[in-house]
Amino acid sequence: MKKIIIFDTTLRDGEQSPGASLDIKAKIEIAKQLARLGVDVIEAGFPIASPGDSKAVYEVASIVKGPSICGLARAKTKDIDKCLEALRPAIKREQARVHVFLATSNIHMKYKLKKAEEEILKLAKYFVKYASDRCGDVEFSPEDASRSDVDFLCRVVEAVIDAGAKTVNIPDTVGYAIPVEFGSLIKTIKTKVPNSNKAVISVHCHNDLGLAVSNSLSAIQSGAEQVECTINGLGERAGNASLEEIVMGLKTREDMFKCTTSIKTEELYKTSRLVSKLTGIVVQPNKAIVGQNAFSHEAGIHQDGILKKSITYEIMKPEDVGFGATRLVLGKHSGKHALGDRLKKLGIELSDADLIKAFQRFKDLADKKKEVFDEDLLAIVEDEIVSVPETYRISGFEYRSGKDIEPHATIELTKGNTVKKESSSGDGPVDACYKAIEKITGAKLKLLDYSLKSTTGGKDALGEVSVRVMSGSGVEISGRGASTDIIEASAKAYVNALNKLVFTKSRKTKLEL
Ligand code: KIV
Ligand code: ZN
Repeated sequence: MKKIIIFDTTLRDGEQSPGASLDIKAKIEIAKQLARLGVDVIEAGFPIASPGDSKAVYEVASIVKGPSICGLARAKTKDIDKCLEALRPAIKREQARVHVFLATSNIHMKYKLKKAEEEILKLAKYFVKYASDRCGDVEFSPEDASRSDVDFLCRVVEAVIDAGAKTVNIPDTVGYAIPVEFGSLIKTIKTKVPNSNKAVISVHCHNDLGLAVSNSLSAIQSGAEQVECTINGLGERAGNASLEEIVMGLKTREDMFKCTTSIKTEELYKTSRLVSKLTGIVVQPNKAIVGQNAFSHEAGIHQDGILKKSITYEIMKPEDVGFGATRLVLGKHSGKHALGDRLKKLGIELSDADLIKAFQRFKDLADKKKEVFDEDLLAIVEDEIVSVPETYRISGFEYRSGKDIEPHATIELTKGNTVKKESSSGDGPVDACYKAIEKITGAKLKLLDYSLKSTTGGKDALGEVSVRVMSGSGVEISGRGASTDIIEASAKAYVNALNKLVFTKSRKTKLEL
């Protein structure tokens, strides 16, 4: 299978992203990671642009071994000399590349360079030879190639190959090309330029129309052997073709492209995170391959499919790009299957009936909240859904209270075959009840919240008490009890919360009691 050369220009064109500036230390850190990722060429900077850039290229050339280290230069003696100087450590190891560029489009020649075709041709030849005499590996880019006259472009390509260029890179500098057109330009160069087989034909696409990756892949299908790209698609204006998208496109659709790369794809996510952190440019969540949502599913139908067989809705495995695992986001579009699966992962297996109840509560919550987290699910289940076994049952109950009478309560609790009774006084009858319950069970619960409401009208209304308590290890749980006697309702609510705590502990859910 044909191997596509991956030329990474994150540290050069990528750094030209508005707002992205990398100091030398950051450039070295990224370059080391690019080497681990397995790129073939690292374009480390544009040495003539600034002393910092020159120093960064020099440091990368000294420290980073493995890939070729490349520096950019205009077709000018001072640029090429500066570039050679910065690349010296890599030139010694024969792992350096000088990248010379000169515009060939009528627009650039007329308005920017103010030079005619023949002069451009002469300069291109001259400076490629100049660089080739000093460095074994020279690449030439006819800038704005996609808007250049094709015949003239072909003449330039032929001339620079004759002058010693080992790689000729065809840039879509302003992101103007469309895939079929760009692919056919590469085919024309490969077929019409007589010596095109003596050099690697490369492409460098910008993303102004969002077509950088498509144009690059189309060029590969037409015979391009190198792609220039950047991590996270960084680059001038709308950026360059994204390395991770090209690489995963080639890998996932190997059946179409029949190409490989040397990229260790499991390093992609890590590299993306590092570049984002050091440039300060965040990756959009829906970015292909490395965005936070790239392997997240929210639609119920999709989640159901994923749980049955991931291939239903995933064309790549998240592990293949180093992403960790597929994430099923629980939100309002999620289905019962996904909820059940997540609860199972939390150690909670519900009966079908309970799952339906939980699902209803979950949907109500998801309507109010964009994403439902594990804590929310635990709260739903532990608060409302699970029919908590009555570990403790109030089997006897008595209290005394009134003007000038110290509140006092006696509670009898049954646990299995054991019956225990305790009495206690308290600040009020409710407090006395709770103290008696604590004496029997040994539980020490902090009462966080207590509320009482009547569920029906009239003097004989049922009083419903809700309590929220905290266990010794900080777990908060609620309990409910109802009775026409509000003190009994209070005692029931407390025992209900206690039973839930005992139940949760026994299920070894994520909660630490
Ligand atoms: O976009 C472009 O044309 C470039 C060249 C220097 C290759 O970045
Ligand atoms: Zn560019």
